[in-house]
Amino acid sequence: MGRKQGILIALALLAGAIASAIYWGGSETAGSGRTKNSDEFVARTGTAIDPETHPGRALFEQNCASCHMGGVPKAPAKVWLEMMAPDAILAAMRGGVMKQQAARLSPAEQEQVAEYLTRTRLADFHPPAPPKQCTGAAAEFTGAAPALLSWGHDNNRFFPAEAGGLTAADLPRLKLKWAFAYPNAVRGRSQPVIGWNTIFVGSQDGTVYAFDLASGCTKWTFRASAEVRTAIVADPAAKRLYFGDVLGRAYALDAMTGKALWRTKVDEHPNATITGSPTLGGGSLLVPVSSLEVTSAADPAYNCCTFRGALAALDPATGAIRWKSYVIPGEPRVQSRTARGSTILAPSGAPVWTTPTYDAARNRVYVGTGENYSSPADGNSDALIAFDASSGKRLWQVQLTPRDAWNVGCMVGNEACPKEHGPDFDLSASPLLVPLAGGRDILVAGQKSGMVHGIDPQTGKIVWSRRLGHGGTQGGVHFGMAADGGTVYVPVVDMADTRDGRKYDTSQNGAGIHAIDAASGKVLWRQHAADRCGGRDYCDPGVSAAATAIPGAVLDGHLDGWFRAYAKDDGKLLWSYDTTREIATVTGAKGRGGSMSGPGAAVYQGHLVFNSGYGMYYHMPGNLLLVFGK
Ligand code: HEC
Repeated sequence: MGRKQGILIALALLAGAIASAIYWGGSETAGSGRTKNSDEFVARTGTAIDPETHPGRALFEQNCASCHMGGVPKAPAKVWLEMMAPDAILAAMRGGVMKQQAARLSPAEQEQVAEYLTRTRLADFHPPAPPKQCTGAAAEFTGAAPALLSWGHDNNRFFPAEAGGLTAADLPRLKLKWAFAYPNAVRGRSQPVIGWNTIFVGSQDGTVYAFDLASGCTKWTFRASAEVRTAIVADPAAKRLYFGDVLGRAYALDAMTGKALWRTKVDEHPNATITGSPTLGGGSLLVPVSSLEVTSAADPAYNCCTFRGALAALDPATGAIRWKSYVIPGEPRVQSRTARGSTILAPSGAPVWTTPTYDAARNRVYVGTGENYSSPADGNSDALIAFDASSGKRLWQVQLTPRDAWNVGCMVGNEACPKEHGPDFDLSASPLLVPLAGGRDILVAGQKSGMVHGIDPQTGKIVWSRRLGHGGTQGGVHFGMAADGGTVYVPVVDMADTRDGRKYDTSQNGAGIHAIDAASGKVLWRQHAADRCGGRDYCDPGVSAAATAIPGAVLDGHLDGWFRAYAKDDGKLLWSYDTTREIATVTGAKGRGGSMSGPGAAVYQGHLVFNSGYGMYYHMPGNLLLVFGK
């Protein structure tokens, strides 16, 4: 291990200790930039173990590493196993897909492997207690079907009054109705969908819940083996739910029973993952494919890189893949060798973190891509790409930042860093398709660079570009914008200290919410949230989570743990709520929120529902689902 890596691991361990023995690292999109080593991904809910000396290490190396260090397609890379809950790893070895591979290990040795991978002492791990079961009328699925079809009602994340039953005037009357603390979790990354008086939401230990909206009891639960970071997507007519897990599998459940209808591994690459939410469009379930090979790439002995971002169209009834289009059309080819003799393959990367945007009028689907992982960079990274929704044929693409080849080797400062040493300016927010006057429309795409672009959906031509912040690996536009008519709300992160050694022009810092005109990109107002962190650890005033719009207001959770609502016309603060206070939950246990990032709020019949807690990339951990009503 290099000296720098050693220091980073020490820092990560220290971070875990400081955050009162509950700190989970992790990474991705807004994030590819945040990862320094796999230790940051590790779950620590109790006393941390020392992975260097733990007996599970040798057992893993002898029995598992040959396949799980990138050697075998389909075998999830170690960094993903590290993010699983220890009981799920044990279940895989004892009765699941790894039964044969783990057969030579004694039960005690299997436990050591699970402890080593999760850096968690099993004695400190508590399997999720069964949440309170609904009985009687509360167990039934009644009332309006889900309003939320995809990533925030429609992709523009605007809930009209008919669907959400919530307008700016209602905000001062909102009260916390109940809260739930996700067990074994330090973050809530899955955006809820609400329908039939039920909240459907995924969680870090892989459990998907169906909560009664009124009382918080559960109608059913389903356990995927790995974390669910995507939104739950509902098809109200078929009464089906769809989502992805971090091991690259897409699922369909029966919304009424929670029974799995199918599951499909969408990509065989060891590092493939699904964290962008799937979208229903053109009769298919459109699933974005991303990866964390950007992290494996930091090992100078690793043959970097072979992952290519992709978009797949699945049959919603069976899960069969109808078509799959890689954003880098050709397979990566050997380009050169490093001083250590490992191979550099390119072009690679361009992961798809964004929820696909479906355009019914043109039967097209648009996705944004992230950076290349290896040198030379190509024209497919940091790009917006249009595909035909029936065939998967590429129709156009527009690259917004050229020559962006970057991997975690650049953060560690080793020879694995591509020579471009690119800025890591992913398109990580889902592009919005905004209707304009005169029957035209425009795509609005935000980037981690702090730039927002208006693009003609027909041709891919850039109509306007606007800078709203300095951007960075943890800057610019992250998880999602929202549009109310021609007004686009753009949350910007722009952390003061991105902890990646880069310096940004602080005079350009755009942390806050911006309202812009979709036709021209003109800024209508901007609101910089007051810094209420007071020097607190892992607290930052930026806005990373996806915005949600209702009539007269935009709603967003901030990295400082405050959820805020701003007026549509002038950005005035209308309502705010501190989610980091101690809160009594439906199970009787006390819980606490933290930073908000990733998904945004869901709105349904006068209720406002969102997660709080984002224990990764040095943000405040927390594990709450919060349900507000009038
Ligand atoms: C011969 C290759 C090979 C070996 C050896 C191996 N694995 Fe796997 N592992 C795989 C493959 C392939 C998959 C993906 C299976 C799938 O998704 O159907 C997998 C999946 C897994 C999963 C995910 C399970 C899930 O629920 O999705 C876990 C956890 C895991 N392996 C742990 C281990 C551990 C621990 C060891 C060592 C005791 C081990 N594996 C040894 C190939 C291997």
